[in-house]
Amino acid sequence: MSFIRPQPIDHEIILDETKIIMSKTDKKGIIEYANQYFMNICGYDEWELMGEPHNVIRHPDMPKIVFKLLWDRLDDGKNIHALVKNLAKDGSFYWVITNFVTQYNEKGEIIAYFSRRKKPPRYAIEAIMPIYKKLIELEQEGGMDASGAFLVNFLTENNLTYDEFILQVLKITQEQLDYYFSDAY
Ligand SMILES: Cc1cc2nc3c(=O)[nH]c(=O)nc-3n(C[C@H](O)[C@H](O)[C@H](O)COP(=O)(O)O)c2cc1C
Repeated sequence: MSFIRPQPIDHEIILDETKIIMSKTDKKGIIEYANQYFMNICGYDEWELMGEPHNVIRHPDMPKIVFKLLWDRLDDGKNIHALVKNLAKDGSFYWVITNFVTQYNEKGEIIAYFSRRKKPPRYAIEAIMPIYKKLIELEQEGGMDASGAFLVNFLTENNLTYDEFILQVLKITQEQLDYYFSDAY
C-alpha cells in the first residue's frame, strides 16, 4: 500500500520503560515483523506495516546522516545505538534508543535485521536535540556532505567516537548499555 505521510504534530508519546518496541526487517529494511507494543505506539495495524519500508515512521526532524551511519553499520553487520525520533500515524512523535542484531544465512550473507528499542532518558533526548537540529539545518543547505563534515568535526573536537558520544549522552558505560538491552532478546 502507499502511505500518506502524517503531518507531524507537537505531541509526544511517552514510552513505558518496561516495554520494548521490536521489529524485524529484511536486508533492505522492509518490515517483516512488528510486536504489539510497536503497533500500539506507532498506531499502525499489522497489515499496514508488513511489507513496507521502515521509513514509514521516519520523522522529518531526523537528520539523514544518522540513518546513513545506521545503514553503514548494519551493512557491516554491526550494532548501532542511536537516538531516534519516530513519527506515529496520528502525527505524534516518540523517542527511542535503538539496538540491532543481524541475522545471516549459512553462506554468511545478511538476511534480516532485528531491532529492539527502548525509552531513552529525558536528559539524553535534551542533549541530542540541538545537535540533530544543527545537522538538519546543514542538510538543508549543503546535504549530507555538510552534516557529515560537521559530525566528524564535532566528534574529533570532543575526542570521541560516535559510540563514545552516545554513551556520554546516555551517561552510562558500555557495560550498562549492554545490560540495558540484555533482557531484550
Ligand atoms: C531493523 C531496522 C529498524 C529500523 N528502525 C527505524 C525506526 O525506528 N525509525 C526510522 O525512522 N528508521 C528506522 N530504520 C531505518 C529506515 O530503514 C530508513 O533508513 C530511515 O527511516 C530513513 O529513511 P530513508 O532511508 O528513506 O531516508 C530502521 C531500519 C532497520 C533495518
